[in-house]
Amino acid sequence: MIELQNVSFRYEEKPLLRDLSIRINDGELVTLTGPNGSGKTTLALLLAGILQPQEGEAMIDGIKSSKPKEFEAKRRDVGIVFENPDNQFITTSVERELAFGLENVGIQREEIRKRVEESLKRFSLEDLRFRSPHTLSGGEKQKVAIASILILAPRYLIFDEPTIYLDPPSRRTVLEIVQSLKGTISIIFISQFPSEIIVGDKIYFLTEGILEGPIRKEEILRKNLFKIPSLSFLHVLHEEGIYEETDIPEPDALCDVIETHKKKISYRKTQKNNV
Ligand SMILES: Nc1ncnc2c1ncn2[C@@H]1O[C@H](COP(=O)(O)OP(=O)(O)O)[C@@H](O)[C@H]1O
Ligand SMILES: [Mg+2]
Repeated sequence: MIELQNVSFRYEEKPLLRDLSIRINDGELVTLTGPNGSGKTTLALLLAGILQPQEGEAMIDGIKSSKPKEFEAKRRDVGIVFENPDNQFITTSVERELAFGLENVGIQREEIRKRVEESLKRFSLEDLRFRSPHTLSGGEKQKVAIASILILAPRYLIFDEPTIYLDPPSRRTVLEIVQSLKGTISIIFISQFPSEIIVGDKIYFLTEGILEGPIRKEEILRKNLFKIPSLSFLHVLHEEGIYEETDIPEPDALCDVIETHKKKISYRKTQKNNV
């Protein structure tokens, strides 16, 4: 279990996160969304134990961040995949990238070779094994970044907007990886794409330092998440009986839905206001 209890955090004077609590149970897939600058990455870094809260406690498996020695060991159970994989690469080939973390913690050569082979196979990276990670496509890079963290067998994995720079097919690949991990490790998946956050067992919203949630996918259209404009609009369409699906469309399709119905909604609004 990974947990923040009544955490407040600020970088400088201005408070960013206020009295925030969240718990991710073992095997759970939790998603988080919120506008740019709302503090999602900060929350991820607090959960990973990389940042320390000024108030409240961060805990991994019940070990508090205020006990630095024990907490330091626990931190290794948490992996993070960032939005830009380029910042994460250290070596000059995919297979060395996969081996790097294992070498660092002193795993035997034979075991490393075995795990690297398994990982190359699992992520269909065999043909890219000698390529420099920096020369790969965006989707391939993110796959290597994810593989190089998973090979270390973390118990908790945080994805911080890993799809933001990817094209739709690569975004789907990343999402499939996330879904394939469901139940095996605890995952915190951060995204600004409404169509992606519905993969979560629990969905959280962060706006202006306040965390809302958890809510379930089925509830998402029933609530007015007014600070997330696209979802808020979809909620109105849902309430009006115009949008009857239960899924959230992919970004392009979502734009189409909004464009198609924008006029209808504003017309109805003026009618209501005139009554
Ligand atoms: N290292 C830092 N020092 C000072 N301010 C920061 C730092 N990192 C982030 N911030 C500020 O904190 C706020 C939240 O940032 P962040 O957690 O990255 O949000 P998000 O990931 O939701 O975009 C932003 O206003 C950002 O400018
Ligand atoms: Mg961020």
